[in-house]
Amino acid sequence: MTHNRCRLAVLGSGRGSNFKAVAENCTRDDFPVEIVVLVTDNPDAGAIGIAEEFGIPWRYVDVGEKRGHMKPGSEQQIVDILGDFGVELVFLAGFMRILKEPLLNGFPNKILNIHPSLLPSFKGLKAQRQALEYGVKIAGCSVHFVEKSVDGGPIILQAAVPVEDGDDSDALAHRILAEEHRIASEAIKIVAGGAYRVEGRRVLLEP
Ligand code: GRF
Repeated sequence: MTHNRCRLAVLGSGRGSNFKAVAENCTRDDFPVEIVVLVTDNPDAGAIGIAEEFGIPWRYVDVGEKRGHMKPGSEQQIVDILGDFGVELVFLAGFMRILKEPLLNGFPNKILNIHPSLLPSFKGLKAQRQALEYGVKIAGCSVHFVEKSVDGGPIILQAAVPVEDGDDSDALAHRILAEEHRIASEAIKIVAGGAYRVEGRRVLLEP
């Protein structure tokens, strides 16, 4: 059952809990995806330990110090690594850098991101805090295709959670994260299996 599985790369900068959730699903024979490499911009990322736990190769790329950005040449290095591993689909699991042409052109419509808000609300950093400060009663998460505009591509799946009166940012983030772990794999499975079509901004899921 391991042939013909979609070859997924995960890019992550930190803890790696979404990476782990997807990696767990990839151990199932009926899940049509295998993670072939983790790429990180952070040599201390928790995601590295998870890669080792699951026997997934990982690579560190020095993308420079400028927050949110990648220094010239480093993004191409990532593209080259993905090429070496025969990657077909890319999942950004807490990758804290903005993608530009090398990756976007290298993997058109094949890069997914997970964001801890119901987009298009609360793009960017600290989305859960933004939601609390705004005072919304429903928060959530989104998996979307990655385009040039940050957190702006067509939405594949979303999940909602209630905001409780006693919530601080951590409590809300924790509740959202449980849903992230669920829809990350679901969205990857949909895209890997090709069971969707994109019409303008709408991603239509085929039964
Ligand atoms: C998640 O909340 C994800 O939505 C956001 O960054 C966080 C990454 O967490 N993009 P983890 O590294 O997957 O635990």
